[in-house]
Amino acid sequence: MTITVVLGSQWGDEGKGKLVDILAADADICARCAGGNNAGHTIVVPINGVRTTFAFHLLPSGLVNPACIGLIGNGVVIHVPSFFAELDALQTQGLDCTGRLFVSDRAILVFDFHQIVDGLKEVELGGSSIGTTKKGIGPAYSGKASRSGLRVHHLFDPATFADKFRKLVDGRFKRYGHFEYDTEGEIQRYQALAARLKPYVVDSVVYLHKALAQGKRVLIEGANAAMLDIDFGTYPFVTSSSTTVGGVCTGLGLPPRAVGHIIGVTKAYTTRVGGGPFPTEQLNATGEHLQSVGHELGTTTGRARRCGWLDLVVMKHSCMINGYDALNLTKLDVLDGLPEIKVALTYKVDGIALDGFPADLGVLATVEVEYATFPGWESSISRVRKYQDLPEKCRAYVEFIEDFLKVPITWIGVGPERDAMLSKTK
Ligand code: GDP
Ligand code: IMO
Ligand code: MG
Repeated sequence: MTITVVLGSQWGDEGKGKLVDILAADADICARCAGGNNAGHTIVVPINGVRTTFAFHLLPSGLVNPACIGLIGNGVVIHVPSFFAELDALQTQGLDCTGRLFVSDRAILVFDFHQIVDGLKEVELGGSSIGTTKKGIGPAYSGKASRSGLRVHHLFDPATFADKFRKLVDGRFKRYGHFEYDTEGEIQRYQALAARLKPYVVDSVVYLHKALAQGKRVLIEGANAAMLDIDFGTYPFVTSSSTTVGGVCTGLGLPPRAVGHIIGVTKAYTTRVGGGPFPTEQLNATGEHLQSVGHELGTTTGRARRCGWLDLVVMKHSCMINGYDALNLTKLDVLDGLPEIKVALTYKVDGIALDGFPADLGVLATVEVEYATFPGWESSISRVRKYQDLPEKCRAYVEFIEDFLKVPITWIGVGPERDAMLSKTK
């Protein structure tokens, strides 16, 4: 199998970037298929012996590996100024991406007005706002679905681009009132941005299929996560794309049978940024422990992440949809100091166990969560590098999750650094 897929299995920030960085050592191409710069993937690696942190948003995290090519697929929404800001920041950090980064000509563009509208929509929602990243993701995907969006290839037809752009902005003025926006200035700015973007643009379908025919190894980096999926997440408290495995095919033009190995990334507890239901949230000392020890602050927005216990009801839902071949359990070290660890096993309504994760948030609000309780191992595992060297109580926790979900946990994270990862199979 030449295609490996890494997907977030909960509400995001599970540590996908770290696994992608590790797997990129054996990949020729690392591709993004969905989302935009709402994602925030942190990678901690030694560069010339210095501990260096990279924050990826729109660009594929595989780029940290100098031999890996980055590809941004048609399913991604691209804010071109942010694309270059990220690229320039990587260059400043000593990471040269010249000649090894490509963008689909079919990807939808995100403009500043989408970002403004994202903020205005949130204000309109008031107390029930989604808590978006305000990167314009929802408005850009809405434009795509309503067939009025502009795609990367439109940038290279300046005459029609200007007209289409004006129409788009006018539509937003009609809907939201006349917000401050320099439409003509933007059209000018995009002429220069188009010229700069041109060398990166490819037909990503042809590019990827040619690479596969040559036996190139492809790694796909999921963004966001299953519970933020537009169909399967806690709608409407979700993002606006297909962040589950279907989005891999539609976001890159790949047939399902091309997808080889699917790895789900799962935090050893649960976090969520923004609004929306979170049945195992701990608004108490446990939640505070997870937040502070886990440094649970958003990579994109800096917001404190809400924290709670691992939820195996969520995980079962996520496993069904994505069909994981393996899991990467991350941040297990964050549980080190806890005397007791809980895991949600079932949701009950009126004493009756639900079959799955409810679609209706009204029902979800009434569920009673049933937990299993495990004794904590109460020692530091951050320096452990072999599975068998983990404390017995810690291994019992890992193996319970594996048995419950019937998916092998093949990778275990015990720290943010590249080498703080155990391979359970070795
Ligand atoms: P992503 O969006 O799924 O790539 O995850 P983020 O990068 O947003 O958030 C994960 C955070 O946890 C980052 O700051 C990582 O450096 C850090 N991290 C990843 N794996 C581990 C781990 O196993 N242990 C600890 N302590 N931190 C980790
Ligand atoms: P990574 O790839 C965590 C959340 C936002 C908000 C909702 C909708 O780093 O795991 P959007 O801006 O997409 O319209 O926001 O989705 N969200 C994420 N939360 N990690 C992410 O990405 C997220 N991407 C979007 O906080 O609740
Ligand atoms: Mg993140």
